[in-house]
Amino acid sequence: MNAIEIRNKYLNFFKKYGHAVIPSAPLIPENDPSVLFTTAGMQPLVPYLLGQEHTEGRRLTDYQKCVRTNDIDEVGDNRHLTYFEMLGNWSLGDYFKEEAVAMSYEFLTKELEIPAEKISVTCFKGDEDCPKDEVTAECWRKAGIPDERIYFYGKDDNWWIAGESGPCGPDTEMFYDTGKAPCSPDCQPSCDCGKYVEIWNNVFMEFYKDENGKYSKLKQQNVDTGMGLERINMLLQGKETPFDTELFKPVMDKLSELAKKDIIESRRIAAEHLRASMMIIADGGRPSNVDRGYVLRRLLRRMTRHMNKMEIDLSELANIIDLDIDILKEMYPELEIHRAEIKEVIINEKDKFMKTLQNGEREFNKVINRIKAQGKDTIDSESIFKLYETYGFPPEVTKDLALENDLKVDMNEVDKLFKAHQEKSKQGSDKKFSGGLSGQGEMETKYHTATHLLNAALKIVVDKDCHQRGSNITPERMRFDFNCDHKLTDEEKEKLESLVNEWIEKELPVSYTVMNKNDAVASGAECMFIEKYPDEVKVYTIGDVSKEICGGPHVENTKELGHFRIVKEEASSAGIRRIKAVLE
Ligand code: SER
Repeated sequence: MNAIEIRNKYLNFFKKYGHAVIPSAPLIPENDPSVLFTTAGMQPLVPYLLGQEHTEGRRLTDYQKCVRTNDIDEVGDNRHLTYFEMLGNWSLGDYFKEEAVAMSYEFLTKELEIPAEKISVTCFKGDEDCPKDEVTAECWRKAGIPDERIYFYGKDDNWWIAGESGPCGPDTEMFYDTGKAPCSPDCQPSCDCGKYVEIWNNVFMEFYKDENGKYSKLKQQNVDTGMGLERINMLLQGKETPFDTELFKPVMDKLSELAKKDIIESRRIAAEHLRASMMIIADGGRPSNVDRGYVLRRLLRRMTRHMNKMEIDLSELANIIDLDIDILKEMYPELEIHRAEIKEVIINEKDKFMKTLQNGEREFNKVINRIKAQGKDTIDSESIFKLYETYGFPPEVTKDLALENDLKVDMNEVDKLFKAHQEKSKQGSDKKFSGGLSGQGEMETKYHTATHLLNAALKIVVDKDCHQRGSNITPERMRFDFNCDHKLTDEEKEKLESLVNEWIEKELPVSYTVMNKNDAVASGAECMFIEKYPDEVKVYTIGDVSKEICGGPHVENTKELGHFRIVKEEASSAGIRRIKAVLE
């Protein structure tokens, strides 16, 4: 079995049990400034977990593209990844513990054919917020897991929440026993010696934790599950690391072939960061010095640095990217669609970074000589910060180079300096997002309102289930991504244009009210990735044609927009179409 077969088995299995298969949301939740990337399958579904009705029903399944960067420094070991795919199934107030556990067990033992004795499970042991989850344990016993393989842990292990507040609840996790010898007589699933590997998490989301840490019951009892595809794929193939599976091996081998100095950790870092970067770029990400763009920049720099460290001829990068896209395009057709852009962005960034490395190296050598002449063994954080600020020399690179020169760096001190720096730029981006997109020009504001009209028109002309999946506005044009299973016909495009223009000509007033987030969702306001909006949100209405949660700003009346014209309609990624339009 390989990864795509596992994905298909998963989606088909849950389809058989009445789940609608929905497309992966983009990796970049545009217009949601609070999170950098989609980090879990539940993230785009939060409004529905909170009670909004989903057009596809109460049972959903999908694969979700995810990026988590908190462990970026661990990549290179045998298991950490920044990009991964999460398979998931959801009950939105439909089935609960019993059915969820029964389906999980059936999928693992019948579809994936994992021997039952290799499976251990964990359940929530109970505390003042929520009682011990005996119900789930009983479901496992009924399914066929004996008591000795059912473990109970506290909130640290068996409670799931995305971030600090939001929908949450006790979970039950499934572990695969690799058959390795236990590290001690007490070795258990919670131990990370490698004997037990977590393969699936079922969260019973029936609580909401507010900003003050208080728990309340949600309107409905939900199930939210997530299974990491790379990991289960690796285990089923009996491989030690995801890098030994078909998802990475061809690139790993190619890197080894090209390396004058073969370093396994560097190969893993290069291969992992290349894949993550390609996925981010395909979903519209571009390197920059802030927020998401900076994460992408860091990934690409680390990739370049490690290829350089292995003395790989970097003019081979285009071929390496082509190979990687060829491996992955069946799973992610968007990589093929954006092949040229992906190569251009990565190669440009590599070129820039190689220049930085070359420029900074002289200065770095000066620093080294000075430190050594002073008889010290640690590079001071001021110097590291200066190398960064003046030469764009990333601190993690300085750290690597320092180690190669038998010098140390105090990364805690460096972190402190950088935090102070980040705080400054965060204030900048908070400002950017306060009240949405304040500080925008007149044209951007107009395009912003046009976006809402287009979003509303799509529901009438194309499909009531069309929703925004992303947007990007410049003073020259708007770009709008939405879910849709077909290329728009000329007739559809014409209808969209004339409906939007009709609304513009009707001189509809645009206004907003401030509402509680849950009430806004319940009132049927359109929203994209809501979960981390503040509790109070603005709901913008345009006449009686559109109602959307949005930070603004908008024009006061649609008559200000002029004439709306669609310039282009194209595929953006699987199941997602993109419209480019102008106001004239
Ligand atoms: N949200 C849970 C997780 O990320 C289950 O999908 O593990």
